[in-house]
Amino acid sequence: MRDFLKRLPKAELHLHIEGSLEPELMFALAERNGVALPYASVEEARAAYDFSDLQSFLDLYYQGMSVLRTAEDFHDLAMDYFRRAHAEGVVHVEMHFDPQAHRIRGIELPVVMEGLSLARREAERELGLSTALIMAFLRDRDAEEAMAVLEEAAPYWEMLDAVGLDSAERGNPPEKFVEVFERAARLGIPRVAHAGEEGPPDYIRQALDRLDVCRIDHGVRCLEDPDLVARLRDEGVVLTVCPLSNVRLKVVERIEAHPLPRLLEAGLRVTLNSDDPAYFGGGMLANFEACQRAFGWDEATFIQLAGTAIEAAFISDARRTELR
Ligand code: ADE
Ligand code: ZN
Repeated sequence: MRDFLKRLPKAELHLHIEGSLEPELMFALAERNGVALPYASVEEARAAYDFSDLQSFLDLYYQGMSVLRTAEDFHDLAMDYFRRAHAEGVVHVEMHFDPQAHRIRGIELPVVMEGLSLARREAERELGLSTALIMAFLRDRDAEEAMAVLEEAAPYWEMLDAVGLDSAERGNPPEKFVEVFERAARLGIPRVAHAGEEGPPDYIRQALDRLDVCRIDHGVRCLEDPDLVARLRDEGVVLTVCPLSNVRLKVVERIEAHPLPRLLEAGLRVTLNSDDPAYFGGGMLANFEACQRAFGWDEATFIQLAGTAIEAAFISDARRTELR
């Protein structure tokens, strides 16, 4: 089964590139840039990745990315991940990135874009890996700042496959960002949003109704609202689910209790993703394998999940045909 899962062509639709920063690269970049880390060693960093909820993770996630300072750093970050993903049978990666988290530290958008763009071209050329870019807004910061970032990104609008919404969910409903998402819609940029990870099912409704998103990131709490489940099924809304993330952030108690089987039984279109692989215990293959162990799914189920991701990916029809 491991061989099958590894060979299965997998598209990753929910990855935060800053969350792919492994402690080894974090230490190398800290050294290169003269940045102090709160950990004495790689082992100590890994040991600190023991989270009680989303916020306790975000605190370390934002701290970890302080080592990213130059375009070269962003390039190295992305290539490090693309190589690992490629080795696991990943054929397409859609990466969220958090421009505000860098801007606050004085790292401006052109630096991030230069590094990520270089890595994307290299991945395509050397690994045959296609990639997409999702510029995410931090929902725990104000909407004016998000709007300013969207305007600042004008030279890069053509390169954005979508805008997204992430960071601390509770108390930061999608409707806070209606104007920003309307602006993105007018620009012809597709929209996705994290909703129903820690937040209530109503945030999933808001993301659909107020932000007009085409996919929901996480969405696992939809099961608390049967009418919403029916709607997601009828409209064929894709959920980008991240099982290991949900376990590590205590959205679910343990993988065996994860709602994935119930989501599938309800007829929803779900995909498997890694979210922040460096912090949550593994990438795409680890997530697929964890589900296999927990749920005993057969090959057909994994083919269906991987197929849904390819159907829902931001890729050309030609690329989609190639990957099917
Ligand atoms: N940013 C990075 N990972 C995230 C997650 N799982 N939820 C919300 N924001 C995030
Ligand atoms: Zn996420």
